[in-house]
Amino acid sequence: MASLRDYLAAQENKSFLRFLTCGSVDDGKSTLIGRLLYDTKLLFDDQLAALEKDSRQHGTVGNDIDFALLVDGLEAEREQGITIDVAYRFFTTDKRKFIVADTPGHEQYTRNMATGASNSDLAVILIDARKGVLVQTRRHATICSLLGIRHVVLAVNKIDLMEYRRDVFDEIVHEFRKFAEPLGFKSIVAIPMSARFGDNVIAHSARMPWYDGPALLSHLETVDVDTALADAPFRLPVQWVNRPNLDFRGFSGTIVGGRVKVGDGVAVPKSGQTSTVKRIVTMDGDLAEAQAGAAVTLVLADEVDVSRGDVLSAVKDRAEVSDQFAAHVIWMGEEALLPGRQYLLKLGTNTVPAQVTDLKHKIDVNTLEHLAAKTLHLNEIGVCNVSLATPIAFDPYAFNRDMGGFILIDRFTNATVAAGMIDFGLWRATNVHWQALDVNKEARASLKHQKPVVLWFTGLSGSGKSTIANMVERQLHAAGRHTYVLDGDNVRHGLNRDLGFTEADRVENIRRVAETAKLFVDAGLIVLVSFISPFKSERRMAREMLGEGEFVEVFVDTPLEVCIERDVKGLYAKALAGQIKHFTGIDSPYERPEIPELTLKTVASDPAKEAERVLAYLRENGYVA
Ligand code: ADX
Repeated sequence: MASLRDYLAAQENKSFLRFLTCGSVDDGKSTLIGRLLYDTKLLFDDQLAALEKDSRQHGTVGNDIDFALLVDGLEAEREQGITIDVAYRFFTTDKRKFIVADTPGHEQYTRNMATGASNSDLAVILIDARKGVLVQTRRHATICSLLGIRHVVLAVNKIDLMEYRRDVFDEIVHEFRKFAEPLGFKSIVAIPMSARFGDNVIAHSARMPWYDGPALLSHLETVDVDTALADAPFRLPVQWVNRPNLDFRGFSGTIVGGRVKVGDGVAVPKSGQTSTVKRIVTMDGDLAEAQAGAAVTLVLADEVDVSRGDVLSAVKDRAEVSDQFAAHVIWMGEEALLPGRQYLLKLGTNTVPAQVTDLKHKIDVNTLEHLAAKTLHLNEIGVCNVSLATPIAFDPYAFNRDMGGFILIDRFTNATVAAGMIDFGLWRATNVHWQALDVNKEARASLKHQKPVVLWFTGLSGSGKSTIANMVERQLHAAGRHTYVLDGDNVRHGLNRDLGFTEADRVENIRRVAETAKLFVDAGLIVLVSFISPFKSERRMAREMLGEGEFVEVFVDTPLEVCIERDVKGLYAKALAGQIKHFTGIDSPYERPEIPELTLKTVASDPAKEAERVLAYLRENGYVA
């Protein structure tokens, strides 16, 4: 019994190293992991017997054990389309405990690799000695660096196939170091090895007397990755406010940085309020102190306003608060990034609408060069500014991964489309306060005896939007209403003259006109917007920019065939002949509104009748008396 207790106690006190293995398909990653598990005696007897049998039957290495068979089950599952995000394996030695994140190397799995890397302190980057540094190697190193990994092992594998030559090894290492220099790794340890024969994996190999560095395992056992998260400033992102009864109010979450003691001061960065910690409550009773990694509920001495998404912080070193920041993003969406489109940004316990306002450049992973870019495609990496609908508390990613790492989510499909790392906060707009004016929207509107609103006409080119909008305005005007029409063709002559018809330009086109419409509503006007506005994302954005009841979506539902037939401006003929590109309905999509307030038909009806329906809607809903 005593020995079991000693054993368990020793396990408890051993330090943890989380690492990631990356490499291309044939670099020998599976063999290496299999070898580590085998040589550290982490296989059970039955697994071993099965492995020996499988090796004889299916192995590719003669009578030896094929370690790759241990882990390659995964690849087979992947081929069958079973999604395995990241496979984590646990093993331990006398000195340390390890968690290996094994991620597939192929470009299409960049997302998985980013996930594995975000949890790791070190990366083992495998290189096939016969092939040297590949595009994959560069991409993996770049992603590791972006995701905050500071320590790299360059495993130059299959050196047995290059006669254990030093010059081969030296050249690869030289090339990698040159490339990786700007990536800022704290340590790069290069090891020549043969995972298949075990050279320099567990123990130093006699076959490479010229190599005097450590074997892989001894390096992993001793490398100091200084993940002193517990010494960082205190951060507790509040997951929920725990209020079982009137006598208890606690803030629950997992500490992601630093430590906290009863009596410590804490601040709420967003509101600037401060208090002191009265109790640290956990499932196993109260604590006097807790540190990063612990799930706790803090009770504070004073009544402070705290809600989900707030971050309790060290008073002297608070999280930043802003609604804009600069960030690196790895794009993972099937559809390209559209600057100006609204996505949901999830950072810790916060989820807020967000836009990429300015894509500065993308990064060529081969050369680390900055390339001009208007968009990012699947697996591309870019640097951009992000703007949020409301401010949140955060830290730069380099300072605290949990406080500075985020994902972007598509608002319609709920798919994760990007992983991002905050570089620094921006305060451009934060220091521009909203100027409170004495004459406000209500005052302006009441003078005009109307309720300001945007009538948003959407539909194909030639569907009749402008014709109907024009009739509605004429009637309103005749009745003494104050109106303005924003028409796509007209606005594109001035404010939006710099925009074309790519998806990105259309998103920006609609963003600008929505902002303009919002100002006109503030001026107290009834605004008629007549834009194709083909994407539901941007129509929704416009709706959300305005107040309750201030946005009325009017879908002019004319079939494409009819629009082509009418072809008032002759543009359909040109588009069909291929002379105009990205024409809505021809080679650019139109996404129909799902629940518009009004749907107008122009085929069985006539424009005057449909205009009357719009006016009736305005009367019935109290916009005009
Ligand atoms: S939107 O898609 O960005 O909302 P908008 O309403 O501003 O389009 O402009 C559409 C008008 O531009 C059309 O009525 C047509 O006259 C003209 N136009 C020129 N090229 C195109 C194109 N490729 N697709 C659609 N409309 C075009």
